[in-house]
This record gives sequence, structure tokens and C-alpha cells, in this order.
Amino acid sequence: MGVFTRVNGVLSPGSCLASGEYRIKQPLGQGGFGITYQGIDTRLNRAVAVKEFFPEGCWREGSTVVSAGRWNSDTYSNAKQKFLLEGQTLGQFNHPGIVQVFYYFEENNTAYMVMEYLRGKTLAELLKERQGKLPEAKALKHIAQVGEALEILHQAQFLHRDIKPENIMLADDGRVVLIDFGAARDFTADCTTRYTTMLTPGYAPLEQYGRALKYGAFTDIYALGSTLYHLLTGEAPVSAIERAAGVELKTVQEIMPQISTHVSKAIAKAMVMDVTKRTQSVREFLDQLHLDNPILTSKVKSASLSNSRLDAWSVFGQTQSQARPRSKSSPKKNQWF
Ligand SMILES: Nc1ncnc2c1ncn2[C@@H]1O[C@H](COP(=O)(O)OP(=O)(O)O)[C@@H](O)[C@H]1O
Ligand SMILES: [Mg+2]
Repeated sequence: MGVFTRVNGVLSPGSCLASGEYRIKQPLGQGGFGITYQGIDTRLNRAVAVKEFFPEGCWREGSTVVSAGRWNSDTYSNAKQKFLLEGQTLGQFNHPGIVQVFYYFEENNTAYMVMEYLRGKTLAELLKERQGKLPEAKALKHIAQVGEALEILHQAQFLHRDIKPENIMLADDGRVVLIDFGAARDFTADCTTRYTTMLTPGYAPLEQYGRALKYGAFTDIYALGSTLYHLLTGEAPVSAIERAAGVELKTVQEIMPQISTHVSKAIAKAMVMDVTKRTQSVREFLDQLHLDNPILTSKVKSASLSNSRLDAWSVFGQTQSQARPRSKSSPKKNQWF
């Protein structure tokens, strides 16, 4: 369970949602965009995680969330819709490495996402237990699983946007699971907000600091490379903005000479500042890490093929007659959700 430090207008334990279908137990964490609670599905009597849309600066009157601070009713409502869309999109996936979303709904002038409750710890918590870093083989094993899940997301034209050790959970059943997807993060009231609450320096590439810059699979790849950098060295890399100002990013091998050369090089390539020169696909990154074993590849393919509901286009309500891609190569270029 996460260490919860910031308390600002959280729902009190015992609060009911969706006509009593879910009961809130306690908060697990509060980020720039929402509050995550442990809860219970009262009908099935099983633990769930409930994420509430609650952007920083807003407050609560009774149980109702009120848009405030830099959020006006339009920006608040747009970001809330994006949050709901994210719930709908995530609900389409059925992969062990992607947190399962059961339900999403609006209430209290805000939105909620009900997810499976993962018993386990985040990779950030694991790092704390292991004196800050992991041995190469263990770190690569976790990254292979994250990469597998990320490849499925990318095939559906969906980006995570906030990959870092805090957003990867190691479940007690051995699954390595991506949580905390951040599509709503694109809706920021201003640039300063984006810098202070939506980005995690060290993991976010330079394109995420801009407003009109293009995102792509390479955006998540930078963050995945940074995450592996952190797992191996015990330090988050210097931020992209510092690098842009001339601060040098040490290679993994410069900090930890015992790490394999190909791993250090793969990370450096995933973290190239210029997006055109950066590693372009998760598969390429896993290949460079020598993680491209046939078992992994076939598992990824069968997961994606068997999941006929995995179709990011369907969530936008497009009819069959509208321009909907028939093959994987035809989605509109650079259109990411
Ligand atoms: N599905 C889940 N199961 C169990 N714990 C979770 C789950 N989702 C999130 N958490 C815990 O709550 C913390 C905060 O959730 P997260 O979705 O990362 O939101 P944020 O970082 O915006 O606060 C996570 O670091 C993790 O400890
Ligand atoms: Mg998080």
C-alpha cells in the first residue's frame, strides 16, 4: 500500500458511491489529478481501488467537488470527460500488465473509476526495501513485463504518459501492473500547472513540457528507459529540462560499471532528447535489452489478438462506416489517446 502523505478534501471512510454499490475505506494516494481510495464492492464483497477525479486546487463542499483555483468550469469539465474516456478506454483492455477497470461513472460533480485492487507494492516501494536499486536480472524481468503491457497499449494507439516506479505495481501474485494512466493530464489550465503537477521530472521527455509538441510511443519509451535507469542506479535521471539546459546525463555504466554494456546503451538510446533519434518502439527497446524471447513475443501477440474488444477506436463512438482503420498500420499518424 502506498504511503499517503497529502490530505486535502478526501472522502471520509464509509462514504457510499453509485447508490451504495461501492463503499470507500481509506485513501491510498493523492496526486495532481485525483485521489485513489481503497474501497469495497458491496455486492460482490470484494476489495476495489476507486480513483476520484480531483484536480489539484479544487475543493469539496460536502461530498461535491467544486472546480476552483486555475480550473474554470470549462477546463474542469473537459478534463473530467477525458478522465471518463480514459476509464472507458482502459476498460477495453484485458491484460495482466494493465490494471483492470470495472466501472466508471459521474457523481458528486466529479468522476470515478473503479479498478481491481492490487495487493502488493509499487516498484518505488520495492526500491526502498532494497536499498534503492535492483540487480540487473531482476530489473530486466520487471521491465520485460511492463514492456509487454505497454506494447499492447501502443498497438491500440493509447499512451500511458506517466511511467515511473510509483506507477508500476508488483502484485503479490507475481504480476507487474501499470497503474495511473494520465490522459487527463493533457488538459491543464496553463503551462505552469503542467510543469508542477502533471510531469514527473526525470521520467518525462522534453516533448511533455511543451504544449504543441507531438507525442508518440517514443514518449512512453523515454519514461520506460528512465524507469530502468532508476531501478539499476538507484537514482532518477536528471530531468529532460535540465538536460536541455546542458546538464549531462551520466550513462548507467558510468554510475554502475557492472551493468551490461548493451543495457546501458539501450537505456541511453531510449532517452535520446531528439524524438526522431530515440528508440521508436517498445519491441525495439526490448530487443536492445536482449529481452526479445519468443515466449514473450507469442504471449504478447496472443493477448492482443484474443482481445477482440481491444479497439481504441470504438470508444469514440465511430460507426463502421466512418474512417476506421482496418489494419494496424492505418490509424491516423501521431493520433494518440
Ligand atoms: N489498483 C490499485 N490497487 C492497489 N493500490 C493502488 C491501485 N491504484 C493505485 N494504488 C495505490 O495508490 C497510489 C496512488 O495511485 P495512483 O493511481 O498512482 O494516483 P496518483 O499518483 O495520481 O496519486 C499508488 O501509488 C498505489 O500505491
Ligand atoms: Mg501515481
